[in-house]
Amino acid sequence: MNRRQFLATAALAGLASACGSSTPRASDPAAFRTELRVPPLLKPEVDKDGTRTFALTMQRGRSEILPGRPVETWGFNGPHLGPTIRAARGDKVRVTVANRLDEASTVHWHGMRLPARMDGGPHQTIAPGATWSPHWTIDQPAATSWYHPHPHGATARHVYRGLAGMFIIDDRTAPGLPAAYGVDDIPLILQDKNLAEDGSPSGDPLTGTFGILGDHMLVNGVHAPFLNVRTERVRFRVLNGSNARMYHLTFADGRTFHVVGNDAGLLPAPVPVDEVSLTPGERVEVVVTFTAGEQVLLRTRSGSDDIDEGDFDLLKIVAAPRLAASPGLPDRLAEPAPIVVPPGARVRRFRLNGHDAINGKEMDMSRIDEVVPAGATEIWEIENTVYAHNFHIHEVAFQVLDVDGEKPPAYASGHKDTVYVPPKSTVRVAVRFGRFTDPATPYMYHCHILRHEDSGMMGQFVIVEPGTENQVPRTIAGHHG
Ligand code: C2O
Ligand code: CU
Ligand code: CU
Repeated sequence: MNRRQFLATAALAGLASACGSSTPRASDPAAFRTELRVPPLLKPEVDKDGTRTFALTMQRGRSEILPGRPVETWGFNGPHLGPTIRAARGDKVRVTVANRLDEASTVHWHGMRLPARMDGGPHQTIAPGATWSPHWTIDQPAATSWYHPHPHGATARHVYRGLAGMFIIDDRTAPGLPAAYGVDDIPLILQDKNLAEDGSPSGDPLTGTFGILGDHMLVNGVHAPFLNVRTERVRFRVLNGSNARMYHLTFADGRTFHVVGNDAGLLPAPVPVDEVSLTPGERVEVVVTFTAGEQVLLRTRSGSDDIDEGDFDLLKIVAAPRLAASPGLPDRLAEPAPIVVPPGARVRRFRLNGHDAINGKEMDMSRIDEVVPAGATEIWEIENTVYAHNFHIHEVAFQVLDVDGEKPPAYASGHKDTVYVPPKSTVRVAVRFGRFTDPATPYMYHCHILRHEDSGMMGQFVIVEPGTENQVPRTIAGHHG
């Protein structure tokens, strides 16, 4: 029996998703029969001074990754993943994060520009039973950000267990893109897992070269999901929340769709594509046009960089027999805002030549690796001498200047905070740093393949008052290793 016949037979027998078989590789639309869950929007409490307070609780629970088989997973405010936080530019926000796990963790706001003490990196530990309440004012363009734990050495395990959620930033000046959450504006959190016999996520996320590369694809925590759409155009906010996997996303019919945003904001204009690649931590916003009554599979194809092995169908999209008309795609999305590198800008070099260090140094919580003056624009040059890595910088927005001297594809030319660094290549990014200074609290930069991050492929930088760079202590008291 070939694979297709096997899948057909399994589907007939009602076994395709109940026997622990991996995600279908051959198009077998019948196997996609659990409705996609859309994470609920988290409602804030609004104080007298207008501060919007969001409450998150990190907890263990039970959920069904495979239908009918409840297993232990971790989540925020529920058993798996977390609600979507949505706030607008100018909002004063506070998040109360209660840790009801039985071990310490942290929660990092990936993509958010905020003071280092609020960033939720490995220094902002939340003990079991404790609550941490960072607060800041949203001051950045509309974007799709996310939140996830960041305890040093345990990020891979905490994320793999299910702790992750989206954080959408609105900008009141943003144009007419689909924006009805859960209707025509839909988050897609892509993650891959290996599942044990009982359906629970299995495997050690800190083994092998890359840790987990699963054979079960989940979207918003659901395996083999379908999504009913009712409008002509739908915006998907796609987050690669996987530990290691890179996706090359296409539709089964090869249709053209439009990329409208990168990690840190909207592109100046929509870019037509038939495929986008996404490494862990990266986001892309796309707008897809549907025809009434059609069905199409969103899939990822195999690549040649090890972290992208395997062809998998991810999600079946089913268009209603009648679709509500959508406004046309705007031709202008945002004012072009190139990050201009001033003459003589500082160039910092980072070498990735294994999986547990940057520039030959393993992450040390007590060591400040880089000191950056507030408001600087710099070039960071990341050289990878080995296998696949990527590179994420907290707090900043950057633009990719080149990859081995070549410009990035147009769809990835916008503002970003995470970039793929292919095997044996050099990537240069123009980085704009913010203005929150704190010589004693670092932000992180690291590979977002969580096995690498946890093993020490991470460094720390502080942002300081310009001119004080040389007075800043390079060690952090109270931290050893
Ligand atoms: Cu998404 Cu330092 O992480
Ligand atoms: Cu981050
Ligand atoms: Cu890496």
